[in-house]
Amino acid sequence: MTQHPLTILVTGGAGYIGSHACVELLQAGYQVVVIDNLCNSKPEALTRIEYITGKTLRFYHQDLRDKTALAAIFATETIDAVMHFAGLKAVGESCQKPQLYYDNNVYGSLSLFEAMAAAKVKNLIFSSSATVYQETDQRQYSENHPLGAINPYGRTKAMIEEILRDLANADTEINAENPWKIILLRYFNPIGAHESGMIGEDPDGIPNNLLPYISQVAIGKLAQLSVFGNDYPTPDGTGIRDYIHVVDLVKGHLKALAALTTEHFNNGGCKAYNLGGGHGYSVMEIIHAFERVLGRPIQYSIAPRRAGDLAEYFANPKLALNELNWQVEKTLHDMVADTWNWQTKNPYGYNSP
Ligand code: NAD
Ligand code: UFG
Repeated sequence: MTQHPLTILVTGGAGYIGSHACVELLQAGYQVVVIDNLCNSKPEALTRIEYITGKTLRFYHQDLRDKTALAAIFATETIDAVMHFAGLKAVGESCQKPQLYYDNNVYGSLSLFEAMAAAKVKNLIFSSSATVYQETDQRQYSENHPLGAINPYGRTKAMIEEILRDLANADTEINAENPWKIILLRYFNPIGAHESGMIGEDPDGIPNNLLPYISQVAIGKLAQLSVFGNDYPTPDGTGIRDYIHVVDLVKGHLKALAALTTEHFNNGGCKAYNLGGGHGYSVMEIIHAFERVLGRPIQYSIAPRRAGDLAEYFANPKLALNELNWQVEKTLHDMVADTWNWQTKNPYGYNSP
């Protein structure tokens, strides 16, 4: 890679995690180019990124599957590295519309990698997920835990990981000059929002995920939370996940970007890292943390288990600490307080007056 200021292409930069990445990148002095088709995001997010940072980014309202548009963007911009966030992410929807998920996520990624290769841009950070891991008796997942996604969304992530490993393997054998340097980041459960309360998670319709659901109950848009099962083999019977503050998560991306330039990656390669805190919290612990921030109770009732949910899993984040020099800094209180700050400042997300 060339010297600073590097230009980073952020696919899905208007989305929840991508928008936080843009803020951190701009604040760290990188130039940012965003491609997003806005299928699950609003252009207002981009305006707010610029407001928070006092810097500008360049935005292309395009779909990754449009190869002509991608080629034109790579011809116009001098890109040093790509952070690839764009994708569809709803597990339930992926079971109902698998073709849409394979087309958007897998074909969209192939289209991106083809444009990158043609432009000789071969530094990539990819948004993967803990959902690629297989369910076993082991509750803490290291990067060498067996893989085995159980739904179409997860399989798109697993397939893209395989594609990237194959790309890197093929490349180091035939082209050592400018090899693919790829980091796969396997996220655990990203929550929270930027401390300004200006950008955050803005789900369409009724949220699927725990934190947006609780915040909409807390603000009165939804009547009560359904706790999906209290008969799991966990201390309080509710599901346990490794929640990670979105700002900690995107800081992990900047560390990964820096790692691509170290001698560790001189010969290229493709390597996966977990991004998680290494600690699990139960649904009830999250509810109680939210109640402490609010100073009042959250309405909830116990409902049946949700199909496909696991009882408990959390990250082993040691590899990211040892090799990327990254670890979470935010607390559970920070995650919940920042979620609530975003919700109260934007009761209708980016459509709030
Ligand atoms: P998001 O939906 O908020 O952001 C994704 C963005 O990509 C959106 O702005 C959307 O409009 C855009 N997009 C989707 N398909 C596109 C296409 N074909 N062309 C151009 N733009 C497209 O999601 P997020 O929560 O920010 O997630 C970002 C990435 O992280 C996704 O790849 C997701 O699968 C992955 N991930 C998310 C979570 C999570 O819990 N949020 C967990 C693990 C992994
Ligand atoms: N939960 C409830 N009620 C709700 C929503 C969730 O009790 O209304 C519980 C779930 O049963 C689970 C926990 O809260 O125990 C977390 O559920 P989320 O839906 O917030 O998150 P998941 O762990 O199911 O999945 C998330 C993302 C996936 C991603 C995975 C990565 O949604 O896309 O993390 O680990 F693959």
